[in-house]
Amino acid sequence: MSTIQEDFQLVLISTLLFLVFSSSCDAQPFRRCKFDSIYQLGDSISDTGNLIIESSLGAATPCSRLPYGETFFNEPTGRCSNGLLMIDHVALEAGLPFLNPYLKKDSDFSHGVNFAVTGATALSTSFLAAKGVISPVTNSSLNVQLDRMSSFFSSAFHNDTDRAQELKDALFLVGEIGGNDFNFAFFQGKTIEEEKSIVPDVVQIISDAVRRVIQYGARRVVVPGNFPIGCLPIYLTVFKTNNTAAYDEFNCLKGFNDFAEYYNERLQQAIEELRNENPDTVIVYADYYNAFQWLFRNALFLGLDPASLLKACCGAGGEYNYDRARTCGAPGVQACPDPDRLVHWDGIHLTQKASMLIAKWLIQDILPKLQCNA
Ligand SMILES: *[C@@H]1O[C@H](CO)[C@@H](O)[C@H](O)[C@H]1NC(C)=O
Ligand SMILES: *[C@@H]1O[C@H](CO)[C@@H](O)[C@H](O)[C@H]1NC(C)=O
Ligand SMILES: *[C@@H]1O[C@H](CO)[C@@H](O)[C@H](O)[C@H]1NC(C)=O
Repeated sequence: MSTIQEDFQLVLISTLLFLVFSSSCDAQPFRRCKFDSIYQLGDSISDTGNLIIESSLGAATPCSRLPYGETFFNEPTGRCSNGLLMIDHVALEAGLPFLNPYLKKDSDFSHGVNFAVTGATALSTSFLAAKGVISPVTNSSLNVQLDRMSSFFSSAFHNDTDRAQELKDALFLVGEIGGNDFNFAFFQGKTIEEEKSIVPDVVQIISDAVRRVIQYGARRVVVPGNFPIGCLPIYLTVFKTNNTAAYDEFNCLKGFNDFAEYYNERLQQAIEELRNENPDTVIVYADYYNAFQWLFRNALFLGLDPASLLKACCGAGGEYNYDRARTCGAPGVQACPDPDRLVHWDGIHLTQKASMLIAKWLIQDILPKLQCNA
């Protein structure tokens, strides 16, 4: 319960935080990097409209109906949130327009392209199928997206010299990708131990993707890890247990968070190897895991509702306001009245507010590592 006094304190603290933040650094420090374009590979965390175009099923795809998009665009755009995604904030902070989805053929790609597809996996659909994991949404896995990137570059640039020159000041985001490989496997009954066996494959395919974008001319590459998936309403609902020892200090599922950290550590080791192989390329890890933990720890001060940290805003009820049989976008499933007070939008994806806060944290964290003044 929040009293008027608590609300007032919250406003006061938020204002102070804002003043501290805004006086201690220039308004848009990310602009110092002078990125002139952004190329994004990934899944629903970054898809700004590819899947809704790709899928012949149109309206049957996830994230294609209101209330998706209600807060910013007033209509669904294919973004899996109520509004802007982290990539939108990254583009804004870089002083660039929102990235158009590659499959929207008539769009302006002069400031980059978004190849991310909702439901995409890092590993190919056939590789996963051989491991007994069905990829139900799309076949546009990481290598398919890289092929699209390659054909885009072939048509956009005259020759290798031209391409290298044009991509000199581009930012490449290789992910987040790989989260779905694990999501699909977990929800299809694989155990944490079984999933650990595909971690090296996922890390390998992401490393190979980084090598490929470097071959195309990338000079600055950001590779995100995974979120603490044990804090997502979908995991909390599906793997709910009476064993209190299974939960951590935030009431998230410890086993899944530990798995995400296991994966993140291996990904970071691979990034270290890539740096050694490519001394002229800046390769930076984006620490989604700790950005998310920061959000949880500072929820109150960030204006989030501490009592709803594990609840989806758009859902059909239950402890976590998530019901796999009636998800956001289905008829009659309502969004909460105050999405800016919640972290989770639909049980899998973040609200615009959480995306914005996490993106700001990530930019502060990676900016010094991008060596923009070098
Ligand atoms: C992926 O490709 C396979 C083989 O061509 C096809 O059967 C399947 O329907 C495709 N899946 C999706 C989601 O498009
Ligand atoms: C590459 O293309 C650019 C732009 O059209 C042109 O000026 C340059 O001469 C070409 N270089 C080579 C090596 O073909
Ligand atoms: C938890 O315990 C209650 C009461 O004993 C039981 O009804 C319920 O099925 C249990 N839930 C799970 C997920 O084990």
